[in-house]
Amino acid sequence: PRVAVVFGGTSDEHPVSCLTARGVVGAIDQDRYDVIGVGISRSGRWIVVSADQIAALQVSDRKLPELTEQAAEAMLLPGSSGGGGELVQRASGGGGLAELGPVDVAFSLLHGPFGEDGTIQGLFEMMGTRYVGAGVLASAVGMDKHYMKMIFAGAGLPIGPYVVITPADWQRDREQALKQVSQLTYPLYVKPTRNGSSIGISKVTDESQLEDAIAFAHQYDPKVIIEEGFENARELECGVLQSLGGAAPQVSAIAEIRMHTDSGFYDFDAKYLPEEQVDLDVPADLPTEVADEMRALAARSFDAISCEGLARVDFFLTAEGRLVVNEINTMPGFTEHSMYPRVWAASGIDYPTLVDRLLQLALD
Ligand code: DAL
Ligand code: MG
Repeated sequence: PRVAVVFGGTSDEHPVSCLTARGVVGAIDQDRYDVIGVGISRSGRWIVVSADQIAALQVSDRKLPELTEQAAEAMLLPGSSGGGGELVQRASGGGGLAELGPVDVAFSLLHGPFGEDGTIQGLFEMMGTRYVGAGVLASAVGMDKHYMKMIFAGAGLPIGPYVVITPADWQRDREQALKQVSQLTYPLYVKPTRNGSSIGISKVTDESQLEDAIAFAHQYDPKVIIEEGFENARELECGVLQSLGGAAPQVSAIAEIRMHTDSGFYDFDAKYLPEEQVDLDVPADLPTEVADEMRALAARSFDAISCEGLARVDFFLTAEGRLVVNEINTMPGFTEHSMYPRVWAASGIDYPTLVDRLLQLALD
């Protein structure tokens, strides 16, 4: 089968997607699959690139890779010079993925808005192309922490207290919006509602920092969510993987993240430049009942948003011993060293097998 790996993208998580693509392409069995890359530059230019070019993306000097306009230019496939290698001028420019030749399955490794949020999934649906992972609705809900919480709450899943400030709330009555926040107990996490990798997030320990934190989050999203922090909570994550043939999804071993970061939380640097800042315990040292309960909640979270393919579900175990679902990620970081493949490796499913299962699920 011919696989189109879509990566990069216009979101702030672009470099993370480049790393993910490098890892996944390296794990695809190239004797069985014919891989072609579709890179989206940060400015939104789509180009066709080879698997070898994806393999060349890497971290250098602690700098994450990026498909800049310049790099995109340099990466145009041979024989496609003079701009002819341009795949589409974004969907709106017409052309479509048809110029790519026939593709059996699309594997979008885009993280964040315009990729993980249902938009490209909608494009695949429109084109009738099979694709890996969550559909339009699950992707959109998984990206929007506001609607995610509403659906989780509706499904009876345990979530923490939060307040959403929509652009309309902020425009109409700031005082009122801030008053709502005063009902929450500090510390708070102020977040762009639709982003990933902790981009735009601040931890706020008292009211004097609140407006600055909202202004910071507004740089990334006009809709902001403010969540109550859980002091001394343990941070736990696990993977969910759809089964072939319609059986119940599998849930992986559980990982614990133990941090010692300057920001005091699992922020962008801790996630991607982890050596000094974070310890990951896989499997986490947890009582069996807690681990079982968490796995059941992860499967329910997956089903609550009608997720498909894969997801990583993130939890807090509060100091009082209560499990709280923090969020679901429909395209979790997916390099060989990322949490998602690690929890599966600890559960007996290695990285190439994981990638193959996802392709098989989409092709099924
Ligand atoms: N948003 C990042 C990629 C994650 O959830 O792993
Ligand atoms: Mg996330």
